[in-house]
Order: sequence, then structure tokens, then C-alpha cells
Amino acid sequence: MKAFVPTGDTSNLARLADVPEPVPAPHEAIVAVTAYSVNRGETFLLEKPPSGWRPGKDIVGRVIKEADSGQGPKRGTRVVGHPPAFGWAERVAVPVDNLVALTEGISDARAAALPLAGLTALRLTRVAGHLTRKRILVTGASGGVGHYLTELATQQGAEVNVVTASPERAERLKALGAENAVFDVAEAKGPFDIVYESVGGESLPISLSKLKKGGNLIWFGQASRKAPRIDFFAFWNGPVSGNIRHFDYTDFDGPVSDDLKILVDLVREDQLHPEIGLEADWTETPDVLHQLRNRGIRGNAILTVTAAP
Ligand SMILES: NC(=O)c1ccc[n+]([C@@H]2O[C@H](COP(=O)([O-])OP(=O)(O)OC[C@H]3O[C@@H](n4cnc5c(N)ncnc54)[C@H](OP(=O)(O)O)[C@@H]3O)[C@@H](O)[C@H]2O)c1
Repeated sequence: MKAFVPTGDTSNLARLADVPEPVPAPHEAIVAVTAYSVNRGETFLLEKPPSGWRPGKDIVGRVIKEADSGQGPKRGTRVVGHPPAFGWAERVAVPVDNLVALTEGISDARAAALPLAGLTALRLTRVAGHLTRKRILVTGASGGVGHYLTELATQQGAEVNVVTASPERAERLKALGAENAVFDVAEAKGPFDIVYESVGGESLPISLSKLKKGGNLIWFGQASRKAPRIDFFAFWNGPVSGNIRHFDYTDFDGPVSDDLKILVDLVREDQLHPEIGLEADWTETPDVLHQLRNRGIRGNAILTVTAAP
């Protein structure tokens, strides 16, 4: 079958190749993939790919072989899945705990946009305590995670302030509930109870300085690839005391399918709105990765798997 494999070449990160069919473990189903989304974190991994690894964590498709364990969706079921890897392919093995059945009302593209970005946003809302009436700052807000986080935190009663690149992107975030948008983190009007920081570089110390006394900075990414420098003494010009919490979306108990089902249900109930900045045929994956890395895509990019070339 065909699948995208890493090239190790940063100017063209992945190429279509012939690879062996997936061999499922007893708790895994085989899914024929119809659409997938690509994530910034995967582009980082593609630069220095681990041996034997192929990208692909967000997929939609149909179960063509159910798990030998007898658990999970049956053959023929349309599903959204979050495999640990290998999903940019015609077929992929997915643990049944990482699969959720889809109803017809949700398109492939909207479902494929959910797993990694949606799980991260949902879990980010859980780690900072209750959000009602809290003033929140979200940096890097116009990405996959940022749109979901803006909408979910607004629904939970927070006042959401976002940092984004352009007025057009700000408008969309405001439509999802953001109260204020700025185009430079230095312009954000604190103090904030919670900062969700994912840009790194200067963005982290600047947003930290806008934290309320005793507030929480949840550090969940470094999209700029620049490590932040933090000065201990700078706290006295900012929150005086406060918390910096490193966040990893995988550090949660229970099957992924529990939270993935919450996301699917929210979409079905018209309460969560996947932001699809681009849809393309999967043969265009290398170009889409290039655009994603250059901040050219708002929300999620979705690739549709057609007949292999
Ligand atoms: N810790 C975890 O468990 C976890 C899970 C998922 C993702 N992440 C991380 O969280 C971050 C957001 O993920 P995502 O999937 O939402 O990524 P994404 O879709 O690429 O969004 C990142 C956003 O950051 C903004 N940005 C601001 N300055 C940037 C810069 N110098 N370089 C690149 N982007 C910049 C961009 O929006 P503008 O151009 O509009 O500013 C971009 O849309 C990434 O760093 C990712 O690796 C962490």
C-alpha cells in the first residue's frame, strides 16, 4: 500500500512510498483511511524521524478488519481515530481505545480535525481549575489547538484574550468567543489568571509578566522553535508569585476514546466547530506541511485520501 514516509530533508519532509500492509496487534482494528490532518508537532518529528516511524496521528476512515480481541467498532463502521503513528497511509492499525464511531452528520474533514488538537485543548481546560470568570491569555491562538481552546474556554465562562497574526484570524477567534485579540503579545492587557503559552521565545517571558499574582502559566508548546529565557527576578515586575506548569496531552488516565467521544458529541451538538483552514488531496501533503510550518494555515489542514497514484 501507499503511505507517506519521512525523507529527513527539511525542504520536503515526506514522500509517498510503497510500504508493507499494517499488521494489527490483538487490540487493534485496521482502518481504511479516507482523511487525515497534519500537526505542527509531527513536522518537528519529521525533521529527525525515529527509525521505523511514519507520521499520522489523526485519521478518519472505515474499519475493514475489527480487532481480534472482539472489542471496539465492527467492520464497516466509520470511525475517527488517534493512532500513535502511521496514519498518513491508505490503511492503519489503531488501538480500539483510540477509536470512536461517527454518525453521518459529521463530515470526514471535521472529524479528522479533532483528535490531537481537540484532545489537547479539552485537556488544557482541565488543568487550570475552573475557568468561570477567569481572564485567560492564549498565545498562538489561530492554530489547531488555539481555536478549540478559545471556544471551549469561552463556553466554560472564561474571558478569552488571544494573540494572533492578522485581523482576519482575530475575527474568526472572536466569532468563537474571544473577547479581545492582539497581534503582539506585548500588547495584551493583563493581568491574567491563566496564560496558555505555546509559542516560546520572547512570548513566554512577556506573557509570564502579565500573569496575576499566584496565577498559572500552562506551557504546552514552542511553535517558534526558540527556547524561552526566564529571569527569576523578573517575577517581581510581574506576578510576584505564580506557577509555570509543563503540559503534555498524553499525561491523562483513561482511554483516549472517552475524550475523543466528548469532542465528537460536541461537534454533533453544534457546540464545537473545527476550524478547517485548508483541504487538499493527500498527494499535496508535502506542500501543505510547508505551508503549515510557515504559519500559512489557520486551524487544521485536512488531506483527503483518494486512490493511490
Ligand atoms: N504539549 C502538548 O501535549 C501539545 C499537544 C499538541 C500541540 N502542542 C504544541 O502546541 C503548539 C500549537 O499546536 P497546533 O497544532 O495548534 O499548531 P499550529 O496549528 O501550527 O498553530 C500554532 C500557531 O502558533 C502561531 N505562531 C505564533 N508565532 C509563531 C512562530 N514564531 N512560529 C510558528 N507559529 C507561530 C501561529 O499562528 P499565527 O501565525 O496566526 O500567529 C500558528 O497558527 C505547537 O507548538 C505544538 O507543537 C503541544
